[in-house]
Amino acid sequence: MVGPLAAKPRAWRKIGGQVPGEAAFAKSNAVSPDSFFTENGQTMKTNQSWGGRFAEGPKEAVAQYTDSQSYDRALYAQDIRASQAHARMLGRQGVISQSEARILVNGLDRVREEIEAGGFVWKPELEDVHMNIEARLTEIMGNVGKKLHTGRSRNDQVGLSFRLFVADRLETWRQRAVALCAVLLQRATEHTADILPGYTHMQPAQPVSLAHHLLAYAWMFRRDARRLGDCLARVRTSPLGAAALAGTTYPLDPQSVAEDVGFSGVYSNSMDAVSDRDFVLEALFCGSTIMMHLSRLCEEIILWANPGFGFVRLPDSYSTGSSIMPQKKNPDVAELMRGKTGRVYGSLMSMLTIMKGLPLAYNRDMQEDKEGFLDADRTVEASLRLMAGMLEELTFRTDRMREACKAGFLNATELADYLVGKGIPFREAHHITGQAVAMAEKAGKGLEDLTLGELQLLEPRIDDTVFAILEYAAAVSRRETPGGTGPRSVETQLEQMHEWLGQILGKD
Ligand code: ARG
Repeated sequence: MVGPLAAKPRAWRKIGGQVPGEAAFAKSNAVSPDSFFTENGQTMKTNQSWGGRFAEGPKEAVAQYTDSQSYDRALYAQDIRASQAHARMLGRQGVISQSEARILVNGLDRVREEIEAGGFVWKPELEDVHMNIEARLTEIMGNVGKKLHTGRSRNDQVGLSFRLFVADRLETWRQRAVALCAVLLQRATEHTADILPGYTHMQPAQPVSLAHHLLAYAWMFRRDARRLGDCLARVRTSPLGAAALAGTTYPLDPQSVAEDVGFSGVYSNSMDAVSDRDFVLEALFCGSTIMMHLSRLCEEIILWANPGFGFVRLPDSYSTGSSIMPQKKNPDVAELMRGKTGRVYGSLMSMLTIMKGLPLAYNRDMQEDKEGFLDADRTVEASLRLMAGMLEELTFRTDRMREACKAGFLNATELADYLVGKGIPFREAHHITGQAVAMAEKAGKGLEDLTLGELQLLEPRIDDTVFAILEYAAAVSRRETPGGTGPRSVETQLEQMHEWLGQILGKD
C-alpha cells in the first residue's frame, strides 16, 4: 500500500480484518454464521439456491446487509402469480410436463395459503421472497419444485413480480384519487353560492366561488388519476423470458406469460428488460405529484383553520389538542401529510440516484427499489384516503369567507373594469381606482362604502350604477370566461367532473 494511509495506521485498522462492531453484533445473535443455512434439518455451509460453488456461507453481517425478505415478502402474492404463469407456460411449451406444471401451480397455491394463514416461516438465510417461496414449494411438493426456475433468473423474476406489485398499488392509488375527486365534487356542489377571497402572492386578489376553489383541486387529482393510468400502461410490460440478461435456450413463450398475468406487452430487448426500473421511477413521480397536490391543499387547510382566517372548522376526529395549551386544536393530519411529502420525494430522488451509474444489465443495487416504493406506497395511499375523509367532515365557515372579501378591496378590479366601460383607457382606470382605494383605506372603509360624491371627485363619469358592480358576489358571477369562477363556468365544471366520475365508477 502506498500513500498516507500506509504511512499512518489509523486506530480502527488495529481491529484487523473485522468490521468495527461486528464482534459485538455476532455475540448478541444466537445464530452463528456457519449454522445459518439449513435444509431438511441439516446444517449447510452455503446457500442452497446458489451455493454450489461456495465452500462457506456469507458472514452474518453480510447476510443481514444483503437480506431483503424482511420487506420484499410484501410481494409474495405477485411472486406466486408470476411463478404460476411461468410454470403454466413451461407446461404448454413442453419444457416440463403438463402434470408437473399442475403440481407447481397447486403447490404455489398452498404456499400462498400458508403465508396468508400466518404459518409460513420466513428464512433470512434465503435472502428474498423469491427464494423463500421456491424453497418452501420444494419442501411441500418434492423435487418437482426444483423445476420451477427452468429458463428463468431471479433477474427477470423480480422484474415481473415487482411490476405486478407496482401495478396493483398504482391501481389502488388511482381509485383513491378518484374517490377524493368525488368528495371534492360533492363539497363543491354544496358551495356554488358561497364566495371567498382568492389570493395571489398570498395577498387578497379577487373574490372566487368556494366551489371553484375546491374544483381546482379536483382537476389536479383528476390529472393525477389519469397520469396513473398512463403510467400503468407502461408498468404492465412483462420482462419474464429475459432470464439473467441474454434470453435463454428453452423454447419459452413470453407473450403468453404476459397475457396470463393480465399484462399488455412484453420486452423487446432482454438486457433492457432485466435492468429497466423506469416503471418504479414513473410510479414514484406520480406519487410525488399526488403528494405535492395534497400538500398544497394541506397548506390551505392549515391556514384556513388559523383563527386569523377562520375559514374552516376542523373535524375533531382529524385534529389533536396541545398538552399544555387547553385552547388549541391543531391541524396535525394536514401538517403530517405536508411533511410526509418529503419522504415520497426522497424515494424518487433515491431511485434516480441508484440508477444513474448502473451499467447493463442487472445489478444488485436495484434491490434498493423496494423499500423506497413500499414506503411511498404506504404514504400516498393513506394520505389520499385521509384527505378524502378529512374533507368530507370539514366545515366551511362561509360567513367568515364572505366577510374576508370586504377586508382586502377585492372589488377594485370591478371598479377599474367599470371605468373602462365608461370609455376610460384601462391604465387610467387602474390609476383612478388606486386613488379610490387610497381614499377608502384612509377612511377605514370598503370601496362600496364610499359615497357617490366621493367617487365623482375622482371621476365625474361615475354614476350610481357603480354600486351594483361593486357587490362581491357580482364580481364572481360576472366572470363567465371559460373556466372562470362565474356560475355557468362552475356549472360546466361540475358537469364535466360528474360525467368523468360516472364513467370511471360505472366501469370499475
Ligand atoms: N432480491 C433481488 C432484487 O430485488 C432479486 C434479484 C437478485 N438477483 C441476483 N442475481 N442476485 O433485486
